[in-house]
Amino acid sequence: MAELDTIIENGLVVSENETKKLNIGIKEQEIAYLGDENLEAKTKINAENLFVLPGGVDPHVHVDQPSGPDVEMADNFQSATKSAAAGGNTTIIPFAMQVKGESLRKCVEDYHKKANGNLYVDTSFHLIISDPTPQVLGQELPALSKDGYTSFKVFMTYDDLVLNDKELLEVFEVAKQQKTLVMVHAEGYDAIKYLTKKLEDEGKTAPYYHEISRPEIVEREATHRAISHAQIINIPIVIVHVSGSEALNQIRWAKEKGLKVFAETCPQYICLTRDNLKGLNMDFEGAKYVCSPPPRDKQSQEAIWSGIIDGTFELFSSDHSPFRFKDSKGKDRPGARTSFRWVPNGIPGVETRLPILFSEGVSKNRISIERFVELTSTNPAKMYGMYPKKGVIKIGSDADLTIWDPNLKKTIKQEFLNHGSDYTPYEGLDITGWPLQTWLRGKCIFNNGTFSTTKNNGEYINRDYCSL
Ligand code: URP
Ligand code: ZN
Ligand code: ZN
Repeated sequence: MAELDTIIENGLVVSENETKKLNIGIKEQEIAYLGDENLEAKTKINAENLFVLPGGVDPHVHVDQPSGPDVEMADNFQSATKSAAAGGNTTIIPFAMQVKGESLRKCVEDYHKKANGNLYVDTSFHLIISDPTPQVLGQELPALSKDGYTSFKVFMTYDDLVLNDKELLEVFEVAKQQKTLVMVHAEGYDAIKYLTKKLEDEGKTAPYYHEISRPEIVEREATHRAISHAQIINIPIVIVHVSGSEALNQIRWAKEKGLKVFAETCPQYICLTRDNLKGLNMDFEGAKYVCSPPPRDKQSQEAIWSGIIDGTFELFSSDHSPFRFKDSKGKDRPGARTSFRWVPNGIPGVETRLPILFSEGVSKNRISIERFVELTSTNPAKMYGMYPKKGVIKIGSDADLTIWDPNLKKTIKQEFLNHGSDYTPYEGLDITGWPLQTWLRGKCIFNNGTFSTTKNNGEYINRDYCSL
């Protein structure tokens, strides 16, 4: 064998449902050797007592999305991908969001302009379809699917994004023709609007009422409706960001019927509850936890764990959607003196996703290290058409690796995070297990708190179809 560029020795290599002590040889950005021989290489890394994992693939991330008047997302592509790398990720899939009235193709071009030259990790785009015009359905979406944009998200709520049932069915039909995968934000628009108005009329406008305005029933109803529509058209769907047992039971019901309904959950649904939305004393501090669906209660957290443990969830993503609590001029997040309705929805989490699931899941013996890798890297890569280039440590795969110290203890603190938000909703959470190094296509890009790369290292990844 020609001399290797790098060999990572003696690590506990976790991949494809098994863990073995192996040496990993890297040549020209790919995995070139896996075994126990002592080979020569230009660079040798000793990973004794450490896990070596396929780099994290976070398939649900929002970056630099238009978020309404006077609201800016806290991360551009540079800061989001930097934060991702520090959290042990080598690939993210943010959204190219269509603004109503705009062409989808133009929207994709705009996102490429924002991302080009600004990536610390590899990146691909899902689409968000907000305006399914005949032009979008008949021409743009089919053409973009063929160009490698093989997944898109639709919303059943939000004024600027909601699709009605007819539109959902029409979009699902295109997905069937193009073999693309639809991600569904399942919360019922009309019920939320009704409850929001009622709460506001009663003067209940604090961030806490965000959760009351979109209870689990609203999520359950929309989840069932999305599943039914997918069954009518006969397509697979992904129900994203599931928050508790109500929606989860609909997904279990669908799976038992043999329907291809995939499910995703996120750190907020195992770490936060609606009590966080109370802030200090029903004050605006609660806005730091406004996301949709909102976090529920301890029982919901246990329900989510049951789905993580029994395999109901295929994906554990961050739904990173970062806003600042105070902007750079000291101005409060919108909604401060008005109503929860105006607080931009979303919380940061791309950097803390892997440590949280490892600590709460693997270190606390709820799940195995193999299941951790499946949920956070292998399944996302398979679901969104990047496997076996991504999501696995295999000869010929990209040498995207995370060297992980299972015993390193840290307390999450805003001061050491790399995202653009000015807070983390996980401040003070004690973590056991943390990524030491992140390797992107054979190059160490993050080493123990220090970036050893410039922003240009990440590439745009063209994707294939779902292989799960
Ligand atoms: O509150 C959230 N989750 N914001 C991000 C947008 C979405 O719906 O995923
Ligand atoms: Zn959503
Ligand atoms: Zn999202």
